[in-house]
Amino acid sequence: MSSKHQNTNPVNRLQSEGDLNITEERRLWNQRAVSAETAAWLERDSQVFLHQSLSTPCLDVIESSTNAEIENFQGDAYLDFHGNSVHQVGYGHPKVVDAIRRQIEKLPFCPRRFTNQAAVELAEKLVELSAAELTRVLFSPGGTSAIGMALKIARKVTGRFKTISMWDSFHGASLDAISIGGEAIFRQDAGPLLPGAEHVPPPNPANCPFQCGSACNLQCADYVGYVLEKEGDVAAVVSETVSSVPFFPPLDYWNRIRAACDRHGALLILDEIPHSLGRTGRMFTYEHYEAVPDILVLGKGLGGGIVPLAAVLCKEEFNIAGDRALGHYTHEKSSVACAAGLAALEVLVEENLVSRSQSLGDQALTILQDELRESACVREVRGLGLLIGVELEDAVLKANQLAEKVMYGCLKAGISFKVSMGSVLTLAPALTISESDLERALRTVCSMIQHQTKN
Ligand SMILES: Cc1ncc(COP(=O)(O)O)c(C=O)c1O
Repeated sequence: MSSKHQNTNPVNRLQSEGDLNITEERRLWNQRAVSAETAAWLERDSQVFLHQSLSTPCLDVIESSTNAEIENFQGDAYLDFHGNSVHQVGYGHPKVVDAIRRQIEKLPFCPRRFTNQAAVELAEKLVELSAAELTRVLFSPGGTSAIGMALKIARKVTGRFKTISMWDSFHGASLDAISIGGEAIFRQDAGPLLPGAEHVPPPNPANCPFQCGSACNLQCADYVGYVLEKEGDVAAVVSETVSSVPFFPPLDYWNRIRAACDRHGALLILDEIPHSLGRTGRMFTYEHYEAVPDILVLGKGLGGGIVPLAAVLCKEEFNIAGDRALGHYTHEKSSVACAAGLAALEVLVEENLVSRSQSLGDQALTILQDELRESACVREVRGLGLLIGVELEDAVLKANQLAEKVMYGCLKAGISFKVSMGSVLTLAPALTISESDLERALRTVCSMIQHQTKN
């Protein structure tokens, strides 16, 4: 591993999931002029919420959100290239709002043990859209709990409990999810985590212990097979299909791991909570690869960018826990969330947002690659649909510091995105963003990078 990619600084080690609110650049951002009202709300937030390095104390106070934008108290808009990955159809899409409003008036809540039309229809729709093998569904009120259900299904189906997942990955913030997650910011000092949660290197050439250089040579995929064989009793391999950082495994990656899972009796659980439903230019991200998971986990945008909703889809033969409880969440078949989900799926299809993501993503890559070709501090520009990463490296300013300077500069210019793994600008706008807003934002990001490296 080349030393420039080693994350040995203790703060850098914590900067995998996103930029932190404890850095020098954040301190400088906090000194900007804000209205008395904004300052007061930020202070009240800081007084009442537990402080956490990825949220409170917060960046700003948001008053409204529409389509691809969020707006603060002072009326300044940010084009939102972060959106916590919920905003495939944009914020407040009229069709989603209308479906929610109608459902609230008719069936605001459906107690467990009863079912409702929207829940059944949404489950059927997801089965119809996804691979033929995936025929059974469970809903839950969030991605983390859906991951928990997927782990329980894998235990029940295989009679095993071990998992293999990726270092640096995120699958949610609960104790079971951080056990399979691989980020110090969640795991460090957290005490005993789930037993049998083995970790392997992710397919990230920038930080690969197999030293594959600039392109993944799939040794990391073969290593998953090796661990499956050595352990012998692994219940499931759990991973995001593509990483949110982002980085994208080569085409054969999931084929190899799928085959290794089959050889060793392990299930393949793909976490597509942030990226299914069009983000990468396909309805489901696994469609970029030939491998179909045994369990697929969806979330985030499934609630139409308004309500929390997640889902587990799995194979027919996994319907074997009829005498147990796998979910049992209060809002398990939320009539309102499912109405939002159905409307969001309709919007995705009616507005061709999946292919729009692909074509706008291609345009975005062209702009970024053209503008940043000469930039010495850009290690790589990469993307799949509207999931785009600009990875920085810099000999003078450390890449992490440079990335933060660019991010805060862009925030001041009205563009919000997060920094992943310390040095990757992670750009994920609403799939409904206008071409002109997308281009304007990308050119601002590029000029901010160029400006920071000149200074
Ligand atoms: C890949 C992945 N898995 C799981 C989760 C957890 O989802 P939730 O926050 O809805 O619990 C997230 C959230 O960011 C995620 O990105």
